[in-house]
This record gives sequence, structure tokens and C-alpha cells, in this order.
Amino acid sequence: MLPKRVLVYFLCFTIFSKGIAQEIKATTASMQKVHLAFGLEQDGVPKYAVYFSGKQVIKPSRLGFKLKEGIALDSNFQIIKTDSVTVDETWKPVWGEVNQIRNHYKQLTFSLQQKSAPNLLLNIVFRLFEDGVGFRYEFPIQSNLKFFVVSKELTEFNLTGNHKTFWIPGDFDSNEYLYTTSQLSEVDAWKVPIISNGTVGDNIPDQYAVQTPLMMKTSDGLYINIHEAALINYPSMQLHVNRTTYGLSSNLVPDAVGNKAYLRTPAKTPWRTIIISDKATEILASKMILNLNEPSKVKDVSWIKPMKYIGVWWEMQIGKSSWDYTANVDSLSPAGKLIPHGRHGANTANVKRYIDFAAKHGIKGLLVEGWNTGWEEWTGIYKEENFDFVTPYPDFDIAEIARYSKQKGVQMIMHNETGGSATNYDRRMDTAFRLMNKFGYNSVKTGYVGQIIPRGEHHDGQWMVNHYLRAAQKAAQYKVMIDMHEPMRPTGLHRTYPNFLASEAGRGNEWNAFSEGSAPEHETILPFTRLMGGPMDYTPGIFKLRNYATGAPDRQMHTTLAKQLALYITICSPLQMAADLPENYEAHLDAFQFIKDVAVDWDDTKILEAEPGDYLTIARKEKGTSKWFLGAITDENSRSASLPLSFLDKGKKYVATVYSDGKDADWKSNPEDYKIEKFVVDSFTRLKLNLANGGGAAISFVPALASQLKEIKSYK
Ligand code: NOJ
Ligand code: CA
Repeated sequence: MLPKRVLVYFLCFTIFSKGIAQEIKATTASMQKVHLAFGLEQDGVPKYAVYFSGKQVIKPSRLGFKLKEGIALDSNFQIIKTDSVTVDETWKPVWGEVNQIRNHYKQLTFSLQQKSAPNLLLNIVFRLFEDGVGFRYEFPIQSNLKFFVVSKELTEFNLTGNHKTFWIPGDFDSNEYLYTTSQLSEVDAWKVPIISNGTVGDNIPDQYAVQTPLMMKTSDGLYINIHEAALINYPSMQLHVNRTTYGLSSNLVPDAVGNKAYLRTPAKTPWRTIIISDKATEILASKMILNLNEPSKVKDVSWIKPMKYIGVWWEMQIGKSSWDYTANVDSLSPAGKLIPHGRHGANTANVKRYIDFAAKHGIKGLLVEGWNTGWEEWTGIYKEENFDFVTPYPDFDIAEIARYSKQKGVQMIMHNETGGSATNYDRRMDTAFRLMNKFGYNSVKTGYVGQIIPRGEHHDGQWMVNHYLRAAQKAAQYKVMIDMHEPMRPTGLHRTYPNFLASEAGRGNEWNAFSEGSAPEHETILPFTRLMGGPMDYTPGIFKLRNYATGAPDRQMHTTLAKQLALYITICSPLQMAADLPENYEAHLDAFQFIKDVAVDWDDTKILEAEPGDYLTIARKEKGTSKWFLGAITDENSRSASLPLSFLDKGKKYVATVYSDGKDADWKSNPEDYKIEKFVVDSFTRLKLNLANGGGAAISFVPALASQLKEIKSYK
């Protein structure tokens, strides 16, 4: 649809600043319940405010920049032009939660110019959606500004109260934290054990910095989510929390010498996003972040295929085998050969065992980690040249694996761990992708554990943001899908690069293998935080929930088995791992059936119930079929839910296979107690679910055959 002009009207509103009430002329605009006001204070400082259903959500908040060499791009402005436009269009994502997305917004562009020399220009572009506001800065071409360095972005989000907040520290190198739930006044990043991806140094210099997406709830029940969209050629934005005024301000991740961003006009920043609703479910249903990203730049997308996969992976996480081949690469046999320690997981025979399992159960992909040389010296030593991404260990026959997997119809997934040495990966990427093409790997999992090289750069800074995008673009060039571990947290770029299937950038299930793990509430917070920007390779589906970690008998998962199944629905990703060992699935083939059946690409999604930190129930319809799947999870508290199945196609009978917690299930004391029941249901059925402490339920709904209507009882 062609953009329509919209009416922008002016009114006077009061901006309270520096303790003085000043009347300024502001421009306002509304989109249903969302209302924006923008204006300049008397000293030409740009400010905006946001309202929802007449309630203030963002108090007047400052916009602008400090540039290097003392250039202030934060005041002395006048508005030289205001443009507005309304867009209402729908587009089809290549994959995702729904098969089409409405993009309906009003855009206001304020062109500002400083009133005195050097008369710099700055545009601020707002987009009002039904569920919030996005805005970005543009630096137009101008005679007095060409190459410039951002020292500080001054964007503020001044909140109206001491909201309940779900936060992780503003660490420049890791998002793999447990969420703390507290009031804004209690945020303290230094109270949380530091992770930083193995990086040493000052990675959380600001004690009161938090990461985005930041989820908040006001005392009167409004949900607010602040993040960013389309993070390209710019550092990630973290937020500094003022614990007394409840103001948030942008904290950009610096580079090795403390600068934030290197830009050249014309340039633009990512969008800053404020999603608002009085319903938690609507926060999760928001498509604003995707809408603020550009359409696909990958022209032919026919090769991009969501999939489930297993991996020679969990066995290393739990210490059953290892990534490396030798104990010490310096000690060679008299014949000059590496001396194997005998615990290497990625050996041809073991990999074939996984290929057989995947083939037998119809799991498409197989990831093999530790197949290539370099794992003896891969992290924590700041070594630049280590992995070459092409040389297999002597016991991994790459050609034979390619042949065997092809014969069995299993798709191999490449693994390129960089150990943080992005320079090394940059130099070797083409060679690595050529190897993938040669041996038929159509996807790659990358990793950045450890300190970033170029030394001093951070995982979330501009240099690395550009590196990750380079990797996604290069992968597309070679028709390879990509899954990144330890990148910056996503900002919807998978719309533009649909081969960028998923990333980790958060605390995945693996933390339950090598640490004390994550509390049962973790997966009820992730969708409101980390997942707002895009899919997560969370690696669900652990069936052996206790006694799995070598040498750490106390370690356990923090969910029931049924909840592990529900995660395939509540954590949406086009790439879903069945993370456990084949033998642990063989022991529960009845429950494994859900993992075999569940889809990874969807025509529709209904967020049925949600409360961050407490519970979540989602139903999704498989792409191109009439099947529905449902996942329900709870935190450490048990929960009963009564769910109308009104999302099911009207007039159709379905066989619902319900995988739920057994009578005595409890994540801590009895996590493997589950039951499986089958019922005939339809859109009028109201289904009762009882979730155990730390529990969940997963359901598949398949249109019933006539014979099944006789055999299977109707749900009462
Ligand atoms: C960390 C990743 O999250 C994990 O999945 C991977 O196995 C290791 N790095 C090794 O690359
Ligand atoms: Ca990780």
C-alpha cells in the first residue's frame, strides 16, 4: 500500500526539566492507545515523551549525542522540517511464528539544524505502532560533518516510577546471565557473579548498567519493553539505571580505545524500541522489532530451511567425552603423530551412531563439535591463530561422514568455534565456507568463547557487530544458514538475513550441564527479554534430568521432563536442538515422539497466557498443515490452567496427545515423572492442565481420522 500523508498537529505541552517548568511547542501524534510528543526545549535540546491510554510511560527524555573533538550534537537545535507518513502493509517472513506480518505505523521525521556554526544537521525519525514507539537518528550528508566518532549517545528513557524489572548486567561481553527481578531502585550489576565470556578486565564498568531487552512492569499493570532494532554498524545499547529518578540512559558498548561508533554521513543508528501493553501476552506477540528491520537482502531463499537437529555435543557438555583429541599437542609419538587421549567425542564411529539415530527418528540435522584441530588451546589464552576451520582430527573422516550422512538423509551441521579470535575467522571464512560447500554442510554454528581479538574489542561493540553481520552475509553468499553462539543479542536482523537462523546470546540450557544451572523461572523470563530480538538456540529436550554430569552428582536440570518438551513451543526458533544423548531418548521413546512431531516453522501463533517470571502458554500452528502444538510452562510453583482450545480450526476434530507432568512430578525431587494421554478435542473444548513445580505440558493436535474418533475418548 502506498504511504498516506498524516495530519500532524501542534499543541503546547509542558516539559519539566532541570526542576523548572518550561512551556514548549511540541508535535504530537497518536496511533490508537500510543501517543508521542516531541519538541525542543528553549535551549534547543530535543526531547520526547510517550503515553499509553492517556498514561505517561516515558517522561520528557533527552535525545542527542556527544561527538569526539568536543562536538555537541545535543542542543541549540531548531526544527527546519517535519515530515509525516502512514504505512500499512503486510509482508511474509521466510520463516517464523506467523506466515504474514502487518506493518502499520505513522512516521514522523524531524529535521533539526543547529542555530549557530557549525550548523550541524540531525534527523530524528519516530515510528508509532499500535504497540509502542520506535525511533532512530539519521546523520544527513552535510558540509560540516563527514567522518565522525560518537563518544556518547544521550538518549534517555525517563520512566514514571520504580517499576519491577527483569534485568541482567550490562556486560560488554556476555548475555549469559540469570535474570534478577527487582525494582529499578535495586538494580546493581556488581551484585551478580560476573561471566564475561572468559574475558578479563573491566567489562561492567558501570555498576548500574543493564542489558536490553529490558522488561518492566509498572505498579498499575503496564508492561514496558525497551530494546533496539536493526543493530548494524553501531555498538549494542545498554542502559544506565538512575536508581532514584528511574531514568534510563543509553550506554553504548565502547571499542578498544573507549570510542563508541565510527560513522560517516549519511549514517543512521539502530532503532530504539519501546513496546507497551497492558497485557503481557501482547508484548510477546509484538512484531515491532521485526517491522523495523529491512526486508530480506537474500534474494533466493529457497535453500533456507528451518530444522531440528541432534549433536555430538551434550556428551562434551557433561564431561562424558571431550572436544580435544590429545592431552597435550606438544607430546608426539616416536612416529611424530599426535597421541590421542581416547576421549575424543567427534570420532567417525561415534558420529555414525548419531547419524543412524537421526535417520531412524527423522531428525534432519546433526551438529558435530570438536571435529577440527585446535581444541587443545582454544580459549583463555588470547591466541590469535588457532583453528583453521578445515583440518579434521585424525579420527574424524570428513569425506566418509559426508558420504554416510548423505546416504542416510541426514544433514550435517558445521561447527566453527573461533575462541573469540574474530580476525582469524575473518581471514579464513571463505576457506571454511568452501569446505562446507564441498562436503554438503548447509549450515554452521559459530562460537566466540573468550576474549575478542582484535584485542580490547568487546563482543557487543561496533567492530564485532560488523563482524557477525559479515559472517551472516558471507554465509548467505555460500548458501549456508548460520547459528551464532556468543554474538551480540539479536535485534530482528533475521528479517533482513533470513539465513541468520538463530543465536545463543543468552543463558542456554547448557548452563545446567557445566554450572549450578538456571532457576525454574528462567524460561518464563527469556521470551520477554532475550527472545524479543530473535530466536535462541536454547538446546532444549534434556530427558536425563539428574546424574548426568561427570564428577558433579548434585547437578540437575531445573525443570521436569514435560517442561523440556514444552520449551519447543515457548522458545521459538527455526533451529531446535534435541539436545540429549541418543541413549537417553531411547529410554523414553514415547516422550521423544513429541520432539519428532513438533514443527519448527509456523503459520500462526497464539500467546494464550503469560506473566514474566511466572508462567507462559503458547499455541502454534505448523506451517502448511492443520496441526497445532501447545507448550505451557511454569516457574518453581505448580500451576493449574484451564485453556479454551478456541484457536483450533472450527468444525474440526483433533487428536490431542498431551505430554504432562505425572502426579508426583517435581523439578527437584521427581523430574522424570510424566504421563501421556490422548483425547479427541475441538475448538469448544476447555482443557485442564496441571503443571508441577518447575513443570510444563506439551500437546500436539492432529486432525482426527474417522477410525480414531471411535477409538479415542473425547475430552471431558
Ligand atoms: C559455547 C557454546 O554455547 C556451546 O554450545 C559450545 O559447545 C561451546 N561454546 C564450544 O564451542
Ligand atoms: Ca554459550
